[in-house]
Amino acid sequence: MKEKDQLGFIHQFIPSVHHKPGRSMTLLLLHGTGGDENDLIPIARIIDTAGASILSPRGKVLENGMPRFFRRLSEGVFDIEDLKFRTYELADFLQNASKFYKFDPEETIAVGYSNGANIAASLLLLRPEALAGAVLFRAMVPFEPESVPNLSGKHIFMSAGLHDPIIPSRGTKDLFNLLRKTGSNVSLKWQNSGHQLTQSDVSEAREWLSASFAA
Ligand code: MLT
Repeated sequence: MKEKDQLGFIHQFIPSVHHKPGRSMTLLLLHGTGGDENDLIPIARIIDTAGASILSPRGKVLENGMPRFFRRLSEGVFDIEDLKFRTYELADFLQNASKFYKFDPEETIAVGYSNGANIAASLLLLRPEALAGAVLFRAMVPFEPESVPNLSGKHIFMSAGLHDPIIPSRGTKDLFNLLRKTGSNVSLKWQNSGHQLTQSDVSEAREWLSASFAA
């Protein structure tokens, strides 16, 4: 059995309030550039009304000291080789963590913001079995897959800022269209906002989560 610090990522794990290992939902929280494993916990607490477990890793790539989940060459231009390597590494971490903490790997839903949402989208494309669904705040197409994976049965909620200067609306729309082609149940909400999250992002994600994953 591995120790917590052998799982490969600095992280937080908070068990489900139900204290029952096994079949209950786990939220995989993936922060934005410059964030850490603590950032999204307050948001997860608001959007999840079912008391899910929380697994929240810190991105291992540093850009001028700021943690991220994969390297980029410039804003919006990703190092695809590193992105793919980091996506597999994150999926392996998730699998090992599910054994270590005894949560159901088939009931994991990613909640990602910006860079974290982009690696969550990459996880869906490269390791679809890793996630049951995802909340993608401010996401774009992370890379063009060679073939469209089958994501039928997965529930995905995207929320984007109409005036986001970092994530171009084209990139968001392209991701939405790609996810639609996978057969997933995907919805996209536009917020009258920029890159920052707003109350309406959070409340719409909360409604979506309870409607999509009702016990
Ligand atoms: C990315 O690098 O994933 C996106 O540009 C968003 C961000 O700034 O983190």
